[in-house]
Amino acid sequence: MFESLPGFREFYPEECSRRNHLFRIFRNVARTFSFREFDAPVLEPLDLYVEKSGEEIVGQLFHFTDKGDRQVALRPELTPSLARMVAARANSLRRPIKWFNVGEHFRYERPQKGRLRAFYQFNADVMGEEDVAADAELIALLVAIFKACGLGANDFRVRLSDRVTWALFLSSLGVSDEQRPSLLDAIDKSERRKPEQTLESIEGAMPGRGEEILSGIEEMKTVSTFDALNERLVSFGEEGERRAGEWAELLQLLESHDAADCIGIDLSIVRGLAYYTGFVYEAFETSVESRALAGGGRYDHLVKKLSGNVDLPAAGFAIGDVTLTDCLDGKKLLPDYIDAPEIFIVAGENERPTALRDVALLRQAGYSSAYTLKRQAFGKQFKEAGRSGAKFAVVYGEQEVLENKVKIKDLSTGAEVSINSSDLLRNLRSLEESGGIAADG
Ligand code: HAM
Repeated sequence: MFESLPGFREFYPEECSRRNHLFRIFRNVARTFSFREFDAPVLEPLDLYVEKSGEEIVGQLFHFTDKGDRQVALRPELTPSLARMVAARANSLRRPIKWFNVGEHFRYERPQKGRLRAFYQFNADVMGEEDVAADAELIALLVAIFKACGLGANDFRVRLSDRVTWALFLSSLGVSDEQRPSLLDAIDKSERRKPEQTLESIEGAMPGRGEEILSGIEEMKTVSTFDALNERLVSFGEEGERRAGEWAELLQLLESHDAADCIGIDLSIVRGLAYYTGFVYEAFETSVESRALAGGGRYDHLVKKLSGNVDLPAAGFAIGDVTLTDCLDGKKLLPDYIDAPEIFIVAGENERPTALRDVALLRQAGYSSAYTLKRQAFGKQFKEAGRSGAKFAVVYGEQEVLENKVKIKDLSTGAEVSINSSDLLRNLRSLEESGGIAADG
């Protein structure tokens, strides 16, 4: 017996319907924010991810050499493909470019709670707008999606941080632009590591200064209010003051978007991906310790890096389906699976051809209609009809068909009415409106 691969899920109809429920919310809310859906290949040249996404993701790639001797990889994320697509048509696309996607991604991670090797992401990105209004629009969309899933403002938190703030802080300590990435990486990993390991990484990048820099970093990570942040930024000089103004504007916009109640300043977030350049954030469930529900931020240089000549500011985020499904499941916010047909056809052996013609008619009219594929006695067919969860059975007995009639039976009350078969659709519609057939017929 074959088994599916570790970290890959099988979606039986129940799981598929839960997944589709999430996808519907993603698409509906994205449209209300006037984002347009796009898609990209799942298999890409390996080089697209090397360097661009950062060491962590590259170590997790599913990659191989194809039959044409190309080095290829299953997409671990969408952002590099999006950047390439937008760069290729940068001159003809109307800006700002607001695009979203719902698609499957692959990372060779150790399968564990919240982490699999194949998972879906909802990605939303704004390209061509450097103003913080774009960052605010994205965070507002993220919050609106969680709220549309049924989560309240206290159920989740968007932890907001900023790579520019970190860059200013690190350069105030004499850290050069070249040394910065390894320190940001150490800060990113410090949440999941022992302090000695973080110290070791910092020492590696800044020999002899590990202790001092680590204590500065730890102090920065305690900042959780705008006032505390403002105080530090102002101390970094003119650039710091300008950044404080942008922080204030972003927070103000989030307030106007009615999204501020679930957002907190938290500089411990720096994000593992290499391309981020500005505001970054991750969303977490509040009541349980779990992996991030979503993550994103601004990445103003990626398009230029990939295209060589197109310079386009960009920002975006992705929500993962694994952690979000776990979170909604835990709070009983996923709807029960509804697979019942609306109508179940019950027919005698000789009446089947007539009944099947009506099945076709009902289906064309949009009714989900079922019948027993095997020819069965009436009793068995009624049993199946009951089990199916259908609201109505439409019954074709010998006498009915002779008289051009059918019987509609309300399976919840047992009551039935006999009607002219040509009136079937009209009768079903009015029964739906009235809620069914009363027990007295
Ligand atoms: P990311 O933080 O790597 O960002 O992934 C975003 C979300 O995808 C995570 O918060 C998590 O919910 C989900 N996710 C990631 N890896 C796994 C996994 N192995 N199993 C289950 N879920 C996972 C990005 O991918 C960026 N490209 C987002 C972005 C879009 N930035 C700008 N635009």
